[in-house]
Amino acid sequence: MRRMSSIVTDYVIFIVHRRNHNRIEGSLRNGVKDLSTLIITDRCSTPHQKCFNLSFSLFFMDCLTAILTRRSVRRFRKDDVSDETVMKLIEAGNAAPSAGNLQARDFIVVRDEETKLKLAVASVRQMFIAEAPVLIVVVANYPRSMRVYGDRGKIYAEQDAAAAVQNILLAAHAMGLASVWIGAYDDEKVSEILNIPSYARPAAILPVGYPAENPRPRKRYALEEITHWEKW
Ligand SMILES: Cc1cc2nc3c(=O)[nH]c(=O)nc-3n(C[C@H](O)[C@H](O)[C@H](O)COP(=O)(O)O)c2cc1C
Repeated sequence: MRRMSSIVTDYVIFIVHRRNHNRIEGSLRNGVKDLSTLIITDRCSTPHQKCFNLSFSLFFMDCLTAILTRRSVRRFRKDDVSDETVMKLIEAGNAAPSAGNLQARDFIVVRDEETKLKLAVASVRQMFIAEAPVLIVVVANYPRSMRVYGDRGKIYAEQDAAAAVQNILLAAHAMGLASVWIGAYDDEKVSEILNIPSYARPAAILPVGYPAENPRPRKRYALEEITHWEKW
């Protein structure tokens, strides 16, 4: 067990109750070094007997678990998110697919309190945005795709940006952080605040921080209602 502790000190540790995979209690240790967030699976039968006198197995949070347990989080702890961690998130965004690999998206990191407040106001006064320690604004860079694809490059740039957004949301979750995709904002005001050139457009604002809430999963359509086999 001692050996295990020394392995995990640099990572976020999750204790996953086997009986309820949806509820993951994130207990944060000394920050995150990379995307390889470790998970400790609680092998005991009672969920609250959860710690170190028990036998655990360590493994990486698998992709599907990250996808299925991510939630939109709108309350954040005050703890800072390091630049190193922010760059890991951007690395995840940058790894997303893009049309023709043209990667028609840029990322703006915002920590300045005044700028965050202005962005919150421009986002229909969703003031919780300014409470996050850092914002990542994902921007669709139209000419980067349109120079190859013409008009269709416009939608590709937006899709490239959206794919990056989702990668960042999932990476943040896998690293013990949390975020929410903010899409309700005045494009022109956000562009003005962030000096975004006229040929680009903000695709999403992502407030990022350590979660101070654990929202319940939102309802989804039943799969049979939305799945079409062979034809619509
Ligand atoms: C395009 C888009 C725009 C969104 N805009 C906002 C927003 O402005 N404010 C907000 O609080 N959540 C916003 N959301 C988050 C959704 O409310 C959230 O994803 C949805 O309710 C499902 O919850 P979940 O993410 O926890 O599964 C947006 C999500 C998407 C994909």
